[in-house]
This record gives sequence, structure tokens and C-alpha cells, in this order.
Amino acid sequence: MRILGIYDDHNCSSAVVEDGRIIAAIEEERLSRIKFHNGNSTDGPPWRSLEKVLEMTGSDSSNIDRISIAIEHPAQLQKYVLKDLFLKEKEPKWILHSMFSKSIRWDRYFLFYAYYFNQRRILKLKKLLKKYDLADKPIDLVNHHTAHAASAYYTGGSKNALVVTLDGQGDGLAGTIFRGREGKLDLMAKVPSFHSIGLFYNLITWMLGFKPNRHEGKITGLAAYGDPEKTREIYEKFFDMDGHEFRYKLAKKVLHHAYPHRSNYPKLVKAMDGLLKDFTREDIAAGVQDITEKYVARFVEHYVNLELKDNDHIDVRMAGGVFANVKVNQRVAELDGVSSVFIFPSMGDGGLSAGAALWSFYNENPEQGIEIEKRKIKDVYLGPEYTQKEIEESLKKSKNPYKFYDNIEEKIGELLAQGKVVARFNGRMEYGPRALGNRSILYQATDPTVNDWLNHKLKRTEFMPFA
Ligand SMILES: [Fe+2]
Repeated sequence: MRILGIYDDHNCSSAVVEDGRIIAAIEEERLSRIKFHNGNSTDGPPWRSLEKVLEMTGSDSSNIDRISIAIEHPAQLQKYVLKDLFLKEKEPKWILHSMFSKSIRWDRYFLFYAYYFNQRRILKLKKLLKKYDLADKPIDLVNHHTAHAASAYYTGGSKNALVVTLDGQGDGLAGTIFRGREGKLDLMAKVPSFHSIGLFYNLITWMLGFKPNRHEGKITGLAAYGDPEKTREIYEKFFDMDGHEFRYKLAKKVLHHAYPHRSNYPKLVKAMDGLLKDFTREDIAAGVQDITEKYVARFVEHYVNLELKDNDHIDVRMAGGVFANVKVNQRVAELDGVSSVFIFPSMGDGGLSAGAALWSFYNENPEQGIEIEKRKIKDVYLGPEYTQKEIEESLKKSKNPYKFYDNIEEKIGELLAQGKVVARFNGRMEYGPRALGNRSILYQATDPTVNDWLNHKLKRTEFMPFA
């Protein structure tokens, strides 16, 4: 069974899953050259990645069995955002304000905005599918976090696992916990988007002058140069935990349901009363990194302990943008009782097309769930590749000098030993944010000054680490 997976919003992508394995996947940004291409904006729908995965796998309407889209069903989304608002938030002032205030009209609660938003996305994608003669195929709509969870669970190689998703927000949620058993995912808990630790991290990224939803990795890099102790008490006034649940504490002060949208950032920073203004950016970064590590670990620990009542140890599978943070992942891996952690390599929203398609496959074929241990993902070289001839033609066109080596690996080793920087383009492109050798810049790991000069050459910020 062959399933086409699509995700259309921030960092959109396409993927093909065949018999429970991802056989091709690529983010739209790699083809459009627009970083984090948002298919639901003026960047345009993800037709390039869709076309590419069809081409790579020799697929068309004759051999694609289903389409899976990582979008919650509009009516379902509307139902649970309203339920969330009325049942959890018992303050009439907030409820009325959120539903009728034009100042927060982009907020997910505004009248029937949630329904309208997702419905419009689906119609756009159906129009796109029509062009490829795929619109009459059965279509599954898979919730954003279910797709994240499926990506980690069905590629992680463990039938029994605790599956955790955490991100900024998607389909009204900032996180979920699933129990994976014998190939089936059961939802245990949800994190509402207005208590999103990911969005809080985005906010601090913006406050420090970087681009939210894009430069969070820079904050992690910067944090290494600061002292989290200096800002700890202040951060605890803004963000805390209530038992094992995340709590954005400024919610009451700034209409918390307005929190997720970036148009509210100035208002949110104002609500901090300038308490962070006298600290260096390094200490501010170290503080937000520290609370993120600590709180995520505490959140996951709660569910690990629940699972340990019936198990000696537990495998944890994770996806969502928060798990792009390697130090957060390390903290989860160090929890007592955790026997292994696995993070889906395309942990951000770029991974949702593959996640949705995997979910559809195992939903259609539940008996295949026992096979997931044999289907652990081996590598992430799931993107396009080019023939020697194509590469040579491109080199000729560029008019750059070039030379062919029979044993290129040996030559690379030689150059690295001489202290040269090597750009390597080889085989299939990586899926996900990590350059893992096939589209990578390589340099020897013995030079501590590399950060300063190589970052400068690559136009990266000076404190970004190399891995
Ligand atoms: Fe997400």
C-alpha cells in the first residue's frame, strides 16, 4: 500500500510511505529555497515537494492508494477549541473577549475561525491534488500532534513506547502524550497551546532580536555562554509548572489565549515589566534554556513514572520542534527508568507529511503494528539524488573548475587532515534539519577557533556550534 503524505503550513513537505516505510520525503524549502516555506501563505502550496516525491518513487494516480494530510478535521478542531475555552477557562471575561475582540481576531478562538482556517487549507490542497489526478483518492485528515507522534513511534523500532510531542503549537495544541502499544497509539494527555513552552521559547528568541520559529537554535547556542542562575527567579514568575502541567503565568495579565500569536509579542514583553532588561542576552538565553530543559524533563518524568507501574523500563519516542533542542533530549534520556530515547530525525513540522502517511498506513493495516520493530528507520537519506551526468552538466554550466576522483572519500580525508574545509554533496538528500554527510560542510574537529572564522564565512552567528 502506497500513501502520499502532505503538510501545507510552516515548513511544509511531502512524503511517500510504502508498506509502513518512508520511501521518499522532502521539505518544500529545499526546492523553493524559501527557508521554512509556508504553503499556507504567499509562499504558495507545496507543489514542488509533491511533484518530487511522486517522481522519485515513480508514483501517480495509478499506484497511490491514499492521501494523508496533517490537518485536523475542521469541525473537530472547532469543537475542541470551544470545549477548551468553555470548560477549562472559567472566566466569562476571557471567554467573551476571545470570541468577539477584533484585536485578537487571528486567535484560534475567534468565532468560527478554527473551522474556517483548516477548511480553507484543505480546499487549497484538494485543488493541488486535482492537478495530479489524485483528488478522488481516499483522504485522511490527521491531527498535527498525532502526525508528530506517528512519525516518532512508527520509525522508532519499539512496539511499546511512551510517545511525547511538544512544539510551539499545531491544531490548537502545544503537545501530547500517547501510549504506543502493539502498533496502536492511544492519547493520554494534551497540552493546550496557551501554556506552550515552545511558544515561550519563541517569544524569548524574538525578544533577543532573532526570528521566532526560525532562530531558536541560536538561543540554545547562546545559552552555553550564560549563567542560568542569574535569571532563574525571574523566569519562574513567567513560566512555571503546576504539578506536571506547564503554566504560562502571565496568562491572566495579558489575555492568555492571545498568547500564541506573534502579533502579541510586544504586549507580552511589556507584561514582563522589564524584569529581564538588565541582563546580558547570554544570561537571558541560559535562563530560558534551563527552564525548558527542567520543565520538559519534569513533564515527561510524570508519564514515565505512570508507565513504570506496569513496566521495568520504558522506551521514549519524541517529535515536535521542542525536541530539536539536543540538551532537552539529553535530560529526557537521563530520566530514571528510561531505557532508550528516539527522536524522529525530521522532528519539526517538516516531518508531518511522513508522520501523517505512517499513521494512515497503520490505521488501515492495524495487524502490521507488530512489524514496527523490524521497520526501525535506518537513515534519513530520503530526498532526491542526482546522477554523475547531471552533476557534471551542472558543474560545466557553473564554469567552476572541477576534477573527478575515483576514491573521493580518501581525498576528503586527506583534505580534512590538511585543515581544509570540504563541502560534500553526495547521494540522497537528508530529510529533516540535520546535515548528515550528504549535504554537509566538513572540517576537522580539533580547531577551537572554528566557530569564529567558519561561522563568519558561512554568514552564521558567531556562537553557533558545529556538530
Ligand atoms: Fe508541530
